[in-house]
Amino acid sequence: MYETADADPEAFWAAEAQRLDWIRPWDRVLDWDPPFARWFVGGRINASVNCLDRHAKGPRRNRAAIVWEGEPGDRRVLTYHDLWREVGRMGNALRGLGVRKGDRVTIYMPMIPELPAAMLACARIGAVHSVIFGGFSARAIRDRMEDAESRILVTADAGYRRGNVLPLKRIADEAVAGLDLVEHVVVYRRAGVDVAMSEGRDHWWHELAAAADSRCEPEPMEATDPLFILYTSGTTGAPKGIQHSTGGYLVGVAATTRLVFDLRDDDLYWCTADCGWVTGHSYIVYGPLANGASVFMYEGAPDWPAPDRWWRMVEDYGTTVLYTAPTAIRAFMRSGDEHPKKHDLSSLRLLGTVGEPINPEAWRWYHRTIGGGRCPIVDTWWQTETGMILITPLPGVTTTKPGSATRPFPGVAAEVVDDRGRPVPVNTGGYLVITKPWPAMLQTIFRDPERYKDVYWSKVPGKYFTGDGARVDEDAYFWLMGRIDDVINVAGHRIGTMEVESALVSHAAVAEAAVVGKPHPLKGQSLVAYVVLKAGGTQSEGLTKDLQKHVREVIGAIAVPDEVYITSKLPKTRSGKIMRRVIRALVSGQEIGDTTTLEDPGAVDEVRKWLAEVEGDPPR
Ligand code: WTA
Repeated sequence: MYETADADPEAFWAAEAQRLDWIRPWDRVLDWDPPFARWFVGGRINASVNCLDRHAKGPRRNRAAIVWEGEPGDRRVLTYHDLWREVGRMGNALRGLGVRKGDRVTIYMPMIPELPAAMLACARIGAVHSVIFGGFSARAIRDRMEDAESRILVTADAGYRRGNVLPLKRIADEAVAGLDLVEHVVVYRRAGVDVAMSEGRDHWWHELAAAADSRCEPEPMEATDPLFILYTSGTTGAPKGIQHSTGGYLVGVAATTRLVFDLRDDDLYWCTADCGWVTGHSYIVYGPLANGASVFMYEGAPDWPAPDRWWRMVEDYGTTVLYTAPTAIRAFMRSGDEHPKKHDLSSLRLLGTVGEPINPEAWRWYHRTIGGGRCPIVDTWWQTETGMILITPLPGVTTTKPGSATRPFPGVAAEVVDDRGRPVPVNTGGYLVITKPWPAMLQTIFRDPERYKDVYWSKVPGKYFTGDGARVDEDAYFWLMGRIDDVINVAGHRIGTMEVESALVSHAAVAEAAVVGKPHPLKGQSLVAYVVLKAGGTQSEGLTKDLQKHVREVIGAIAVPDEVYITSKLPKTRSGKIMRRVIRALVSGQEIGDTTTLEDPGAVDEVRKWLAEVEGDPPR
């Protein structure tokens, strides 16, 4: 397969595309007008039909599409027929609210089956969904809705997390207050808590569904029409709306799900991500359902009410494939072997990881304690932008090395290059780039093609710049070394340091801020903020707490710095740029590499002195 795909990637992807149901066949597999790729040009397809109808109309009709457990312990199973019906009803309901092909629908929901249902209902009628992770704040929702010009919000009254009731509707209300753009809010009743319903604007999901027909004519989409946008952090203050296509994206995620997870008819497949992130889009919803898989979904916290929650569920449901993040594995490792050991995990046959490099120690623990030494591990490298897994072992095919994502998927071409774009020698660090287009690649940044060109295609001309550092070993295996830009991976979540800085600076007391990442035993990285106050501002214990609270309000809990230091100045280059790279390196305890690009070679010593002063300063 590797050889065939290498010899003719387009033919390889066309063969994968043949496995899907097309309304009209494509004329050309790929139009490549760098850096804009159009896959399956002329083809028409509907993603919800591929994820639902073709299973609901065949022998998989009564097979479980989603097996779900809520955090309080409630259980539901939706067959393909059930999910098809619910999606049809919501598709019709959204059409009834005036949603048309190309309109953006924002979804802000807990991890309940209605979240994939809402996504698929959009796909059915050609609306472009923009899912926002339930941990984001009202401000974050508002900014994203404004950027996407989204007139509709789908949410729930509340969700459960670690025994608490998260008031999603209340946060949603705050997000849309005074936002004239917003015409309708659809509310699913999950927790039965009291919520304010605004007459004319707000609608109960169950009332809309009860009034709607389950047969919903699917919109015939051009393969190149957008399926969704998903906001992700970059190196500037504003998150980018990553836009994905319908046909190419679906081909890419369907093929990788089938091959990387070696899907079988008797699998119960569990990807522990949240649908608010790309992993949930590609490997809970579109990839698995396009393959007719049975997907397990869990609403709440991994350690609630006890640290064996996940393992109890694996035993109860007979999960066969488990796909999770290294940060979760490290947390379980720390909480002790006795929790997984209480349960029979022998149903598991394949394990996966995603989101950050996995340290070999965690890899071995996962292999031994969770996989019983019997399950292959697929360490899958990819990004929101790539849409699909690009570097990964194939189970049963690739000999793994703990800590390496191994080789590019068939048909994918990756390289590690220096800052002039030249391939680096074996075992030398450099920038990871992708050298050929792939079907699930992002189309553009929503309404900002210039930024798309600049961010991904200008650093190394003609090649897709991932923002990750990597090296390739003597066996041509890829070893990922983390981000090389101002993006930090905290517990598998991508956080832009500039975003956190602009959140801090929006606080009335703050003049300037610098945020860097620092190694953290569980989260991989944690955020450290250095803050300069406006004239007259005074530091206090209360102020640092207030700054953390402020970041939580502006972005969300995931972006709150663990450490906040107040300082009288930030170290800068002569041209006035904050020396983030030097601060980051020193805070991480790394040795400083090449400082010749710094305008002031004395900078390292200066920052070292500065750090000693700042971190010696109480209060923290
Ligand atoms: C990192 C998540 C090492 C990487 C799917 C990438 C990884 C960023 C791996 C994308 C892996 C993801 N090994 N690093 N297997 N998988 N990453 O957009 O830095 O949330 O650029 O997509 O996560 O994060 P994103």
